[in-house]
Amino acid sequence: MKSYRTHLMLCAGTGCVSNGSYRIKAALERELAQRGLQDEVAVVMTGCNGFCAQGPVITVQPDGIFYQLLKDGDVPELVEEHLLKGRPLKRLMYTPPETETPVPKMSDIGFFRKQRLIALRNRGLIDPENIDEYIARGGYKGLAKALGSMTPAQIIAEIKESGLRGRGGAGYPTGVKWESAARHASNAKYIICNADEGDPGAFMDRSIIEGDPHAVLEGMAIAGRAVGSSRGLVYIRAEYPIALERLSTAIRQAREYGLLGKGILEADFDFDIDVFQGAGAFVCGESSAMRASIQGEPPEPSAKHTHATEAGLWEKPTVLNNVETLAVVPEIIVRGAGWFSGIGTEKSKGTKVFSLVGKVKNTGLVEVPMGTSLRDIIFDIGGGIQGDRKFKAVQTGGPSGGCLPTALLDMPVDYERLAEAGSMMGSGGMIVMDEGTCMVDVARYFLEFLRDESCGKCTACREGVDVMYRIVSDICEGKGKEEHIPLLAELGDAVKDSSMCALGATAPNPVMSTLRYFEDEYRAHIRDHRCPAGVCKALVTFRIDPEKCRACLLCNKNCPQKAISGEKKKPQTIDEEKCIKCGVCRDVCKYEAVTVQ
Ligand SMILES: Cc1cc2nc3c(=O)[nH]c(=O)nc-3n(C[C@H](O)[C@H](O)[C@H](O)COP(=O)(O)O)c2cc1C
Ligand code: FES
Repeated sequence: MKSYRTHLMLCAGTGCVSNGSYRIKAALERELAQRGLQDEVAVVMTGCNGFCAQGPVITVQPDGIFYQLLKDGDVPELVEEHLLKGRPLKRLMYTPPETETPVPKMSDIGFFRKQRLIALRNRGLIDPENIDEYIARGGYKGLAKALGSMTPAQIIAEIKESGLRGRGGAGYPTGVKWESAARHASNAKYIICNADEGDPGAFMDRSIIEGDPHAVLEGMAIAGRAVGSSRGLVYIRAEYPIALERLSTAIRQAREYGLLGKGILEADFDFDIDVFQGAGAFVCGESSAMRASIQGEPPEPSAKHTHATEAGLWEKPTVLNNVETLAVVPEIIVRGAGWFSGIGTEKSKGTKVFSLVGKVKNTGLVEVPMGTSLRDIIFDIGGGIQGDRKFKAVQTGGPSGGCLPTALLDMPVDYERLAEAGSMMGSGGMIVMDEGTCMVDVARYFLEFLRDESCGKCTACREGVDVMYRIVSDICEGKGKEEHIPLLAELGDAVKDSSMCALGATAPNPVMSTLRYFEDEYRAHIRDHRCPAGVCKALVTFRIDPEKCRACLLCNKNCPQKAISGEKKKPQTIDEEKCIKCGVCRDVCKYEAVTVQ
């Protein structure tokens, strides 16, 4: 294998690719060739580095210098200064707003410092399309150990002892699930990897597959050995083209290396993996709907009279595990249950990956030990709220999770605490909201999503979520009534108790949690016909404060309705008849002169 003095680890996660990673790669290769450096410096395309807000990003190895927000035009200077003259380029380094001093090394940047990587252990360090790089970082060691020196029962015991719980939502103990599937004798058993990931704002699973597909394949093969299965299936949505491509490449390479197929590593173990593309319906992430989808039936959940580990896909014992759950497995086998269970809280062991999005400064992919506080995640790692506005809430657990207020910022994040607080871990979405967010409108948004994604099979979910959506919409439009609040709570309980699957059972969470923590806001909409956050259009009027207006005319020039007028150098005014409350004037005003009442 060719060796290089420097590796430019260029992020090729979906975020960076959409911001031009491949153009930067071409520019780098051109520039390196022109300078005669092509045999000294390699450009390596990696999976998501995590710090997506700053993408496209490059880490220069071995010195660990981190460059961000790259454009093709930056490439000649970067090559000249850093790679030829040995002078790292300050202007492309990350500069924390609070210090204004560029931080050269990735490991010194606040976003990365408090993270602990297990599922994302290879993030930004390998080319996901090259199996040799995964192996060089200890990849397939777990499978070799599982096949070479452990019995299936010992593998299951190790996973049980580690305390690993499913990262896909319910937090079910992985070892217990495997044990149940192992117990049921059958001529066929299936290991399914759930890569459906339908939560808005979530991209953990996509990034793991894009950045380290072999970790998932290895976890699946170990699961197969443990339960006595020779057939794996990755259920992944077709909307993930990069992940799909890298997954297919990884499967092909693993087959070529004899790590999938017959007689793996010369053991008496056959295991192969196929990919099943889903069409992108949220409900397909639910186990019985997924099974129906794979079997070519309408993807509707069904009542669970028997566990899938006894009669799942094609009525055969089936283990369904989330991408992150499976990616962690090889590390537990290599490093031992004791190592893993030493991380985290009493009942939630290990780490959890979150996609940190919304109004936080450092959006991206974050992996932290269970028990890390929301404050640490949002303020230390996430860098706080954009525009230094006030934090208002964080929504965890995907569309059917809950919104948690400022008072809970110091809460350690684990399965139990989130559930007690009226939210859930879900698969790890974390959406941060600032003071400009209306919590009633947020509840409306998630209800609309869940109403649209309900398969419609059971009445409680089909009708109940729709009625809740219509009530909350009425409240947003100023048509709310006092009795709507107890009615919403009553409906929420009914939908929760009588829905057939967890989509319906958790659908009321956004309303219940916002009612629990932000009831005042509901009351302001209903009683005072006022949206305190200034979001619900029917309830707000935009005004320009003459004291604050500096007559810069930015609002006037940007108003799409020409609803703002005024003389030059004089405060401007808004014509309420013409105003469509789009909020552009408020967004462009540098002096906070546009108020919403
Ligand atoms: C509506 C709905 C959507 C779900 N979507 C996903 C998903 O996208 N990914 C996932 O891993 N689990 C999802 N789940 C949870 C799965 O049904 C299942 O519990 C999980 O894949 C099991 O794997 P784990 O034990 O490793 O968490 C969903 C559940 C429901 C009710
Ligand atoms: S996609 Fe590049 S840092 Fe996430």
